[in-house]
Amino acid sequence: MFPLRRNRRLRTNKAIRSLVRENSITPNDFLVPLFVVEGKGVKEEIPSMPNYYRFSLDLLEQEIKNLWQMGLKSVLLFVKVPDNLKDNKGTEALNPNGLMQRAIKTVKNVCPEMLVMTDVALDPYSSYGHDGIVEDGIIVNDPTVGVLCNMSLSHAEAGADFVAPSDMMDGRILNIREALEDDGFTDVGIMSYSAKYASAFYGPFRDALDSAPGFGDKKTYQMDSANRFEALRETEMDIDEGADIVMVKPGIPYLDIVREIKNEFDVPVAVYQVSGEYAMLKAASEKGWLDHDQVMIESIMSFKRAGADIIASYFAKDIVKLL
Ligand code: PBG
Repeated sequence: MFPLRRNRRLRTNKAIRSLVRENSITPNDFLVPLFVVEGKGVKEEIPSMPNYYRFSLDLLEQEIKNLWQMGLKSVLLFVKVPDNLKDNKGTEALNPNGLMQRAIKTVKNVCPEMLVMTDVALDPYSSYGHDGIVEDGIIVNDPTVGVLCNMSLSHAEAGADFVAPSDMMDGRILNIREALEDDGFTDVGIMSYSAKYASAFYGPFRDALDSAPGFGDKKTYQMDSANRFEALRETEMDIDEGADIVMVKPGIPYLDIVREIKNEFDVPVAVYQVSGEYAMLKAASEKGWLDHDQVMIESIMSFKRAGADIIASYFAKDIVKLL
């Protein structure tokens, strides 16, 4: 007899498809990356990231209100630092009145319930565009970790809920955790970029912050895209060192890693759909080669399917508008 089981039965119409759908997207899934610049009245589009902007603090206020109204309740802050404030040690990162510190306060002021996460790494502050201190052409680990600890404390003092170290130095999670505990910031969390690959998909982000490395690349600290087991090792160590949330980055090219980490560990897993992924889909849809909304949803769905609990994506607003 012809097969008793016909899988297409469960795809016959919209109603049955929605009944058996395994994953769904809600505003609760998203962490919204935001780029902040000095100035007043500034909302400048990032050329390689169509429809994505850098905001000055006054316009950031309105953006935060918009996000909250849309049900987007968590942001991840990045700042574009003026060249004259950059040096090798990222001194400006510790300025209590620096742009990041003021951005944190601005968000908390206009919307106290908005969850604020901050990027912790030296690159936007570094005259070399590297995530750590450079000595004789080498990105030195331990002195960098010291700065990352102070940077985290400074963000916590300004009111950050979570710090998100994206630098890939060894031992930084343990040291940051201890520094936060010692200063009484016991409730400030750490979202670690645990499995962060040395990726060419970060290109548009580096345009956005003017933070491209001045020499060499980031392969001595970010991971080799050929590696899988190393991601598990990195993640396990970060959890042991005190990370509350772990992250895989980039997103789509590393979905296998997201699934593997989700299966292996029991802390929330975040994925970062990075700037290059956003740029690709935007560019192809501008050319009329892809359907923007459909590829956007399909890409976000892939993260849900892979097991991500949290999705950092430049599409957050676009997608919530569609829901
Ligand atoms: C900084 C940082 C980067 C990204 C997030 N934090 C760039 C890099 O490591 O070079 C990339 C985000 C994106 O491409 O969207 N350490």
